[in-house]
Amino acid sequence: MNPYFDQLGRTVLERWREQNFSLETFPEIARLALDQSPPSQNVDLEELVHEFLSRDEQPFQSQSGFGQPELVAFNDQRFYIQILFWLEGTTDIHQHEFSGAFHVMQGSSIHAEFDFDHARSITPHLRVGDLRMKQIELLETGRTVSITSGRECIHSLFHLDTPSVTVVVRTHHDPGTGPQYNYLPPHLAIDPLHTDALTQRRKQLLGVLETLEHPRYATFVRKMVESLDFERGFNILLHTMEHLQDLGEWEPVLAAFQERHGELAKGVPATLAESLRRDTISRMRYHIDDPDHRFFLALLMNVPTRADIFAFIQERFPDQSPVETILGWAEELIEPTDFGLTLLDASFPETIDVASERQSVLLIDALREALEEDPESNDSGGEDSVIFAALAESCLRPLFS
Ligand SMILES: [Fe+2]
Repeated sequence: MNPYFDQLGRTVLERWREQNFSLETFPEIARLALDQSPPSQNVDLEELVHEFLSRDEQPFQSQSGFGQPELVAFNDQRFYIQILFWLEGTTDIHQHEFSGAFHVMQGSSIHAEFDFDHARSITPHLRVGDLRMKQIELLETGRTVSITSGRECIHSLFHLDTPSVTVVVRTHHDPGTGPQYNYLPPHLAIDPLHTDALTQRRKQLLGVLETLEHPRYATFVRKMVESLDFERGFNILLHTMEHLQDLGEWEPVLAAFQERHGELAKGVPATLAESLRRDTISRMRYHIDDPDHRFFLALLMNVPTRADIFAFIQERFPDQSPVETILGWAEELIEPTDFGLTLLDASFPETIDVASERQSVLLIDALREALEEDPESNDSGGEDSVIFAALAESCLRPLFS
């Protein structure tokens, strides 16, 4: 039992009781308590870890798989305090079925907030609409942000440092504010806790066919999406997309889904393409650990336009132009493979036969061109345009918009 968190918990409990445990007052009570006595200034993390490892008198620990890991630092029937470690975590865009406040105790994170406009429910577990980012900011160590349960508070976090540590003062569960939707930009929201057992088994069965390289895999999937409802069909598309793309069979399957669902399916191709792009960035997050490079990845993942990405970089690195900053990162991020150089997920085109030193120069030149010029006016032909296209189709895509 850490004395700081014990005191923080008692303070919050006392103040909330004064408000008759009104749910509306809790986020502000939690935020204020964290700001008045910030964990980032009052807790020795090393000491806390040592104490937690060696003393048995600890608050009740949950079985939660959230965090890497989660430690419960205070537990009351109405709320608890958790300490979350993040090693390479980036969260999905999500909302909460609980409320309170979180505090950046160590490290820093990119925090993006969203609205889901024109939303409508297709089933109790799936909604369609237009996800719009309304704010994105860098949260440095010591910042506290309140959390409201339900659809009003949609956000995502991208942790820049390893480990990042956050402290969350939160209710256990706010009835009536679920499901805890995950948002797939730009057009879908799905309930991640909903388990459709039949879909689950079908995905597993498709996994068997994939492993066996079954010749009718693509045909089976196409037949499925021709007949399944929107929610199940979408889940199958999401599950099979990468493999079907590898097989070169993706387009007819997507077309079958669009044919089946018409207007309702309008936002699905863009949502699936963005989902794949975000997964690619998330995976790169595992082996890219320089905080500046992670900052760049966070921007690529969350900020949709080049102008906004430039504004962010300028704010954090005011001493040189955003173009030079990005080109510097690009040079550091270029890696050799058996088939040529890569920059993040963009591969140098195999059709151009030049030595790797020259590949690096051409990649950087093409990126500079993209960053300095209006992409619409790009009229270079030949090798340049092939390299340009390889970059524009990669996770660097927002720099071309
Ligand atoms: Fe959250």
